[in-house]
Amino acid sequence: MEHTTVIPPAEIEKQLDYCRSVAAITAQWGEKPLAFVDTYGCQQNEADSERLRGFLAKMGFGFTGSEEEARIIVINTCAIREHAEQRVFGNVGALVHVKRRHPDTLICLCGCMAQRPQVAQKIRESYRHVDLVFGPQSLWKFPEMVHGLLTQRGRTFSVEDEPGSIAEGIPVVRQDRIKAWVSIMYGCNNFCSYCIVPYVRGRERSRRPEDILAEVRQLVNEGYKDITLLGQNVNSYGKDLDEPMDFAGLLEQVNAVPGDFLIRFMTSHPKDATQKLFETMARCEKVAPVLHLPFQAGNDRILKVMNRRHTRAEYLEKIKALKALIPDIVLTSDVIVGFPGETTEEFEDTLKVLEEVRFDALFTFIFSPRPGTPAAEMDDPMPREEKLANFNRLTALQDSISEEKHAAYVGKTVRCLIDGASDDARYDLTARTPGNRLVRVVGDPSALGQFRDVKITGANKWSLFGELV
Ligand code: SAH
Ligand code: SF4
Ligand code: F3S
Repeated sequence: MEHTTVIPPAEIEKQLDYCRSVAAITAQWGEKPLAFVDTYGCQQNEADSERLRGFLAKMGFGFTGSEEEARIIVINTCAIREHAEQRVFGNVGALVHVKRRHPDTLICLCGCMAQRPQVAQKIRESYRHVDLVFGPQSLWKFPEMVHGLLTQRGRTFSVEDEPGSIAEGIPVVRQDRIKAWVSIMYGCNNFCSYCIVPYVRGRERSRRPEDILAEVRQLVNEGYKDITLLGQNVNSYGKDLDEPMDFAGLLEQVNAVPGDFLIRFMTSHPKDATQKLFETMARCEKVAPVLHLPFQAGNDRILKVMNRRHTRAEYLEKIKALKALIPDIVLTSDVIVGFPGETTEEFEDTLKVLEEVRFDALFTFIFSPRPGTPAAEMDDPMPREEKLANFNRLTALQDSISEEKHAAYVGKTVRCLIDGASDDARYDLTARTPGNRLVRVVGDPSALGQFRDVKITGANKWSLFGELV
C-alpha cells in the first residue's frame, strides 16, 4: 500500500502565519468581525468544521448564527444524496441577497460537494457571489486562501482531484464540551458502487497513533467524557502507516489512556470487522457496547452489484459472533432501499435481516444516483412509488423493533452520560446510555457532564424517559 503524505509542520506553521496576517487585517475593521459556519453531512464534516473554526478564531473572527452579521460565511457541504445538494444550492443561492447588502462579506463553499467537478463548474458560472470554493483535501490551506481573498481579491477555486494528505497541528474550536470527535483517518478506498465519498474524500489515509493518543489525552484532561473515533471505514485503519497497525490495536491504546470516559467509533465496514475487533471491544472497559455496522441490503445479488464484498450470511455470522461476546451489544445499521434493479422480492431479504438481527436503530435511505458513480449508470426500472412503499414497510418494521427494544429498558437503572438540556419542557436534561440511546431525564441540571444512574420510567420508538437516581 502507498504510504501517506504528511504535510510538513513548517507548512502548517506557514498557514498559522497567514492567520496572523489576516488577524492584522481584521483588527482594522473596527468591531470584532464574525464568522458564520454552516455544516451539512456526517460527523467527519462536523469535525472538519471544528478545524475551520479553529483557523477562523486565529484569524481574529468571533462566531455568529446569523448570515447577516457575518463578515465571512463558510458552507461546509455534503454530496452523499441529491437532496443534500439541493438544500445547499437553495441556501447558497439565497446568499446573493446577503452579498448585495454587504458586498465585503466573503462567501466560501467547501466540503464534499465542492470537490465534485460539476458542482464547482456550476458555482463558477451561476453563483458568482461565491468567493472561495475548496474541497476537503485542501482544508489545511484555508488561511492562505482567505488571505489571498483579502489581499488580491478575485475568486479562488481549489478543487483539484487529490489523493489527500494528513495535516497535524490545525487549531480546533469544538462545538461541545462533553462529547468530542477525533478523526483517525480520512478518505475511502472501497468504492461501493452507489457512493460518492471515495471520489470527493480521496484515498484512505491514517493519522499516526501517537498523534491520535495525544489528542485523546488532551480531551480527557479538558474533561471530555465521550470520544468518537471517526473514519469512513475505521476497520481498515493503519494499513498505510510506516509501522502498520490495526484498528483493534489502536482501540486498545486509546482504552489505556487514564480517565473516566467512553470510546465510540464509526463507521465500520462489515467486510473488515474482525473477531479480533470484537474481542478487543469486549475486553476494553471504556469502549461503549455499541456497533454501527451498515449492511445496506439483505440480498446477495444486490450486495454484489453494490460492490460491498460481503454476503448476507457473512454479515449475520459476524453479528452472531459479536453477540456471543457482548450479549447486550447495541446494534445500528444503514440501509439503502431501491438500489437500481432491486426487486421487491430482493428487498424483502433486507426485512429478513432486520427481523434476525433486531437492530436498536436504523438509518434508512432511498437510493439517490450520484453522477460519476457506477450505480448512477445502472438500469433503474422500479417506479418511485414502489420504492417509497418498500421504504415505508422498512421503517414500519424498524419502528416496531425499536419500540420493543426501548420498552425493555423500562424499570432498569442505567449509568448514563448526562449530555445536554432537553428541548422538551417536561424534562430537564438529555442523556445517553452506553449504547448511545437518547434518554430524556428529570433531574438537577448540575448533573450535566457527569455519568449518573438514571432510572428508566418510560419509552417510545425514538427515545427513553427517566429520572436521576
Ligand atoms: N462510510 C460509511 C457510510 C458513509 S455514507 C459506511 O461505509 O458505512 C452513510 C450512508 O449513506 C451509507 O451507509 C449509505 O447507506 C448511504 N448512502 C451512501 N450513498 C448513497 C446513495 N447514493 N443513495 C442513498 N444512500 C446512500
Ligand atoms: Fe461509501 Fe462504501 Fe466508502 Fe462507506 S465504505 S464511504 S459506503 S464507498
Ligand atoms: Fe457527506 Fe462527505 Fe460525509 S459526502 S456524508 S459529508 S464524507
